[in-house]
Amino acid sequence: MSRLPPSANIHFDETGLIQGDDFGDSYFSRDDGLAESRAVFLAGNHLPTAWAGRDRFVIGELGFGTGLNVLAAWDLWNKTASATDILHIISVEGFLMDADSAQTAHRGWPELAPLSQQLIARWPTRAAGTQRIWFPKDRLCITFLIGPCVQMLSRMDFQVDAWFLDGFSPSKNPDMWSPAVFAQVRRLSAPEATVATYSVAGIVRSGLTEVGYDVLRAPGFGSKRERLEARLLSNEPPKPTPARPKTALVIGGGIGGSAACAALIRRGIKVELIDGDPCARTKASGNPLALIMPRLDRGDTREAWFFRSAYLMACDAYGDMGDDGFETTGVIECGEDAKSLERLADLGFDPPLPDADLAPHGTHGLLHRRAGVVYPHAVLKYLRVQAAHHPVTIGRLEQKDGHWRALTPEGKTIAQADICIIAAGTGINLLCDLGPDLLARAGQLSLAKIEGALPETPLSGGAYAARFGDRLAFGATFEPWPLDNQTPPPVSAEKHSHNQANLAEIAPDLAARIDLQSAHGRASIRVTTNDNLPVVGAVPDAPTGLFVLAALASRGFTTAFLCAEMIASQACHEPSPVERDVALALAPDRFIKRRAKRATAS
Ligand SMILES: Cc1cc2nc3c(=O)[nH]c(=O)nc-3n(C[C@H](O)[C@H](O)[C@H](O)COP(=O)(O)OP(=O)(O)OC[C@H]3O[C@@H](n4cnc5c(N)ncnc54)[C@H](O)[C@@H]3O)c2cc1C
Ligand SMILES: C[S@@+](CC[C@H](N)C(=O)[O-])C[C@H]1O[C@@H](n2cnc3c(N)ncnc32)[C@H](O)[C@@H]1O
Repeated sequence: MSRLPPSANIHFDETGLIQGDDFGDSYFSRDDGLAESRAVFLAGNHLPTAWAGRDRFVIGELGFGTGLNVLAAWDLWNKTASATDILHIISVEGFLMDADSAQTAHRGWPELAPLSQQLIARWPTRAAGTQRIWFPKDRLCITFLIGPCVQMLSRMDFQVDAWFLDGFSPSKNPDMWSPAVFAQVRRLSAPEATVATYSVAGIVRSGLTEVGYDVLRAPGFGSKRERLEARLLSNEPPKPTPARPKTALVIGGGIGGSAACAALIRRGIKVELIDGDPCARTKASGNPLALIMPRLDRGDTREAWFFRSAYLMACDAYGDMGDDGFETTGVIECGEDAKSLERLADLGFDPPLPDADLAPHGTHGLLHRRAGVVYPHAVLKYLRVQAAHHPVTIGRLEQKDGHWRALTPEGKTIAQADICIIAAGTGINLLCDLGPDLLARAGQLSLAKIEGALPETPLSGGAYAARFGDRLAFGATFEPWPLDNQTPPPVSAEKHSHNQANLAEIAPDLAARIDLQSAHGRASIRVTTNDNLPVVGAVPDAPTGLFVLAALASRGFTTAFLCAEMIASQACHEPSPVERDVALALAPDRFIKRRAKRATAS
């Protein structure tokens, strides 16, 4: 099976209706797709009544298709929901169509044009796994699960309030109506969940009944005589959803903390950002530039899922920031040794991202077309503009009367809030002890003049190089450093030479043109782990409401957005943006569990 999910095979028939060629069925009713969507899926799930008075509501859709149902739900949400409520739509799609086709399909409904334009501009990428986009003005969050329906659902944990079952007609596409699909629908249903669909076929009625739904036939839309509504018969009394936090402390204003500010603020949470070194002047996030590009793995592993989703979320986030924050230059990934050359050749042959994102470059490289150069100062400023700032170094955190308080080393309270996110880079272990598994690595970035022209497109592969004004930025060293030493490492000429030698492995001509005499640089420290994954989630053994976002290692500007979204979702009791196994792989208690397992085994 290829790494890239299949695209939709579609055509528009003589009446302009969009048809799925592999399924021999149309994407929606000939009688009027929007009216059908409203009658079958919205009214069938008793919307808007069902979301009235709910501060978080979750729709699950099987079959994203053109996104018409999503637009119809979004439109109704805008007209009826309260200004602080949040709508999550989680939509599964195995055969994503391109944005142009969806745009053509939406043309029949000019009343949806403003929403359609926004969705088309942020259309998901045809890449396997999870992707999340936010429309913060409307408090709408869409999570795409791109891949086969049962496989994608079985990897996730969330609770759906209203299901839209829209997988073509059961006779034409039984895969979307199988017992395995209904079992997943049941597993992922909230206690009083409802289901709506246009089909009253026997396999739909019996499939839903067998997993515990009470099924009703209702008058159908257009030429269809009947449609189906169902409600979960639950023995569990509905549990009150835990309250969403109203206030948050974020400790650390690097890319981790700043991305956390943005993720909380878009949920309407008031954020107090505390950092003794505002703008991470001396810290890793204060570098003059950083590259973003995906880490693409050959295997279909949870690590591969995480890094791919994180990259796509970062591309989307930087897309909003303008040229001051991010330049889409593309990045050429080059192999630095036989193993990496083999990996790149394999990924070029069977790419996990579509052409618009990734193309083979020369004989042994990859061009990441949407990757580019981040300007951290502008990005940090943009992300936390709505947070209240406290330029203070915190000595400790404590929870009292249900609130987290940040105190100076002398014991003065700086701020307090419902929850606290520690994103303190190398300061992490002073605020919460995550044990010996966090490591520090010093790094020096060099900037120098070069003879001849600067490269238009940045290069990466072991070393990296990019144009920065009239200089070449190249780096970076990666050396052990004591985690409790937060003093920035000294910049040295020897390390400039080291960076030049490393660059020579992937770009000997460019490296030979560097004028080392003109070099200056910047050194700082990144936090990493033995398993090369960030640490994201609730702090083990701490009272509730304390979270950590740490160990962003050498890729913080790519991974911080997804990590921040994971924490904000967890803190607000909302669906996670990632697969269960990804959340477990990044969980802060993973080291404790591994040690316990080793101890038991021995
Ligand atoms: C040389 C070098 C080159 C790099 N190049 C790239 C690149 O090209 N692309 C990329 O994606 N990544 C790159 N990285 C990695 C990236 O810089 C890091 O992953 C990222 O900056 C880490 O962000 P952070 O927010 O976790 O930590 P930091 O940037 O360290 O920020 C932590 C913040 O917490 C504050 N803080 C700490 N303790 C306290 C306390 N007690 N009270 C209040 N505030 C506190 C600090 O002052 C600091 O501002 C590079 C790193 C280095 C060193
Ligand atoms: C009827 S269309 C959905 C229409 C859509 N809700 C809309 O608003 O346009 C059915 C969708 O299910 C998708 N699909 C079909 N079989 C699938 C499967 N096994 N896994 C995931 N998606 C599937 C199709 O690609 C198609 O987009």
